[in-house]
Amino acid sequence: MTRGLWVTLEGGDGAGKTTQAALLEEWLVAQGRSVVRTREPGGTEVGRLVRDIVLHHRGDIAPRAEALLYAADRAHHVATVVRPALERGEVVIQDRYLDSSVAYQGAGRVLDAAEVRDLSLWAAEGALPDVTVLLDLDPAAARRRLDAADKPFDRLEAEQAAFHERVRAGFLDLAASDPGRFLVLSADRPVGELAEAIRARVSAAL
Ligand code: TYD
Repeated sequence: MTRGLWVTLEGGDGAGKTTQAALLEEWLVAQGRSVVRTREPGGTEVGRLVRDIVLHHRGDIAPRAEALLYAADRAHHVATVVRPALERGEVVIQDRYLDSSVAYQGAGRVLDAAEVRDLSLWAAEGALPDVTVLLDLDPAAARRRLDAADKPFDRLEAEQAAFHERVRAGFLDLAASDPGRFLVLSADRPVGELAEAIRARVSAAL
């Protein structure tokens, strides 16, 4: 579908996706590129309402309902933000996409991975990124980073260690099954080194 370039960043909570998204944006803008930096959940006004439910609702949400909420956010986001930007020839840098659903709702909540993926593909009319950067981090190290940041945990962050182990394994399985799209980096490398590796990959894709 694209004329522009679509880059997504994935990984567990605390892996440093937001930092790397900001650095990549800065570098692309300095090169004169038009960049749209966005995220899921919450890249649109409707999405921010969905984000509030999935991250801050007190009490349980049935796993399939959670998967549908993320998919609803995604459907609206791709249709109204991502696709139009790519059609204008811009670079979209996106914090999280459907791989997060497969890892968190699939591996984490133990729904069927293929079903979760198909749900998102239906929502997004089959749209897949050109490049997906997976920042891989041991959940125990991620937890230390989140503790140091001293912010209240959201619903997903508050899940137990075993959940985050499954999410990590889910992401690594996804990357292994699609090496053409994924760049896997160990998130405990220095910020500047990670940024350099991401720039090299994006540069090649441009
Ligand atoms: P994120 O915006 O990365 O959190 P933060 O603002 O704290 O960095 O993501 C919010 C949470 O939603 C995160 O724990 C992962 C989860 N998530 C899913 O479970 N499924 C999904 O499809 C997506 C996009 C996110």
